[in-house]
Amino acid sequence: MPDNIYKRVAFFSGQSIPLEMHKARMVQRIYLRHIKDRQEVIGKAGNNTFLLPNRDVFLDMLTDSGVNAMSEAQYAAMLLADDSYAGSETFYRLEKTIQEVFGTEYYLPAHQGRACENILANSYVKEGQYVVTNFHFTTTKAHITRLGGKIFEAVGEDAAKTVSSNLFKGNYDMDKFKSFVKETGVENIAFVRIEAGTNLIGGQPVSMANMREVSEYCRSQGLKLVLDASLLADNIYFIKTREKAYESKSLAEIVLEMSSLMDIIYFSGRKLGCARGGGICTASKEEFLRMRDLVPLYEGFLTYGGMSVREMEAMNVGIKETLDIDIVSQTPLFVEVLGSELEKKGVPVVTPYGGLGCHVDALRFVDHVPQTEYPAGALAAAIYLAGGIRGMERGTLSEQRNPDGSEHLSSMELVRLAIPKRVFSLSQIMYAADRIGWLYEHRHLIGGIKFSDEPKTLRFFLGTLVPVSDWQDKLVEAFLKDMPSGL
Ligand SMILES: Cc1ncc(COP(=O)(O)O)c(C=O)c1O
Repeated sequence: MPDNIYKRVAFFSGQSIPLEMHKARMVQRIYLRHIKDRQEVIGKAGNNTFLLPNRDVFLDMLTDSGVNAMSEAQYAAMLLADDSYAGSETFYRLEKTIQEVFGTEYYLPAHQGRACENILANSYVKEGQYVVTNFHFTTTKAHITRLGGKIFEAVGEDAAKTVSSNLFKGNYDMDKFKSFVKETGVENIAFVRIEAGTNLIGGQPVSMANMREVSEYCRSQGLKLVLDASLLADNIYFIKTREKAYESKSLAEIVLEMSSLMDIIYFSGRKLGCARGGGICTASKEEFLRMRDLVPLYEGFLTYGGMSVREMEAMNVGIKETLDIDIVSQTPLFVEVLGSELEKKGVPVVTPYGGLGCHVDALRFVDHVPQTEYPAGALAAAIYLAGGIRGMERGTLSEQRNPDGSEHLSSMELVRLAIPKRVFSLSQIMYAADRIGWLYEHRHLIGGIKFSDEPKTLRFFLGTLVPVSDWQDKLVEAFLKDMPSGL
């Protein structure tokens, strides 16, 4: 069976749309509420899409975390799970897969990605030390700063540009990185981290060539290199399709090569492996022992790490399926369709298209809303109003305040429309493009939002906000004029 069907099937009509290499055999009923109901619901949710009940959401594009469609092989494997606290066969099966896929001998299980970050931060970060990363992720940063650590971001300048021709915007800027290490001193750097791909700047990938450069430099300096492989599936797809030297390599070869450049790899199994769970792997016994004792303390015994055995079985199969190009290509190809449909309507999106989802650029969409009134948060609420579509704010709202309490204005204001793997149909993607296109035509009606309740940590999860004016009433009125059914 050739491994690149996705590339070779062309439509005789000349149309260019991705062909799904799966069929749906179990489905979930969803509902599209009237816009007046949507207005009430988003108000009750404090204009925070995290707080929307799923029953009121038509297309849930909040995240791919734990909501990718699972395969029949994953469900079947769940029935075989060996339910034991210690020494479960399920764990050994998963450990063997991880050893084969990543080529690392040691695997520490953890219940999700941030649990791995907690263990890593507790094991390596001392007060005042830096973690260098291409770009931060919300939970990673929170764990590091909680222990008095600091973050230095080493992406290049165009990473924060929403329009670019750089196919690997997640790459380290080597000059910036090396100067920082020289100025700061190796002893003040806890570890170096590569997030592949980078979540907060639009799912942008990192090239293998860049990972190799970072790795060689880290090894020459005695710096530890950690890979966050949560978004690995999209990243390996982009390496294969955008990096010439890897065109004819299999995804398995790409993962093994990437892994050989790292000292430690961790991942969220809610993303990688289309299941729920996570873990840390390493080829080094020394690193393994340094982290090991924290697993029973925070997660659970070493052979389950806070995961149910059923989830471990699903993750075991899901990680193997990540090496199938027809499976991992589905999200990036659908992101491309949504991105290009939106661009046809003039909607500003992040380019080149990345993985994970399509990212709408709120700074250009609602350029009249000041950053202190959370343009991406306001746009996410407006997108829900216009289409029952739940996206996620990835901008200033997702940032922590500065130690003096002032706002840390984000370099980007994005609304992420995540495309979980094999969940949506193409007509649903076209609907999303249509409603966001309508909203763009009426963008002048959208106003800002302000906190009514602001939690101190990770405020974007549970914070509630209110519109700064009656802009939502006006938006609903305009929608009803164009779509009298209210749907
Ligand atoms: C790059 C990256 N790292 C870490 C995490 C945290 O993983 P989890 O949500 O499983 O805790 C995520 C989750 O979105 C992520 O995208």
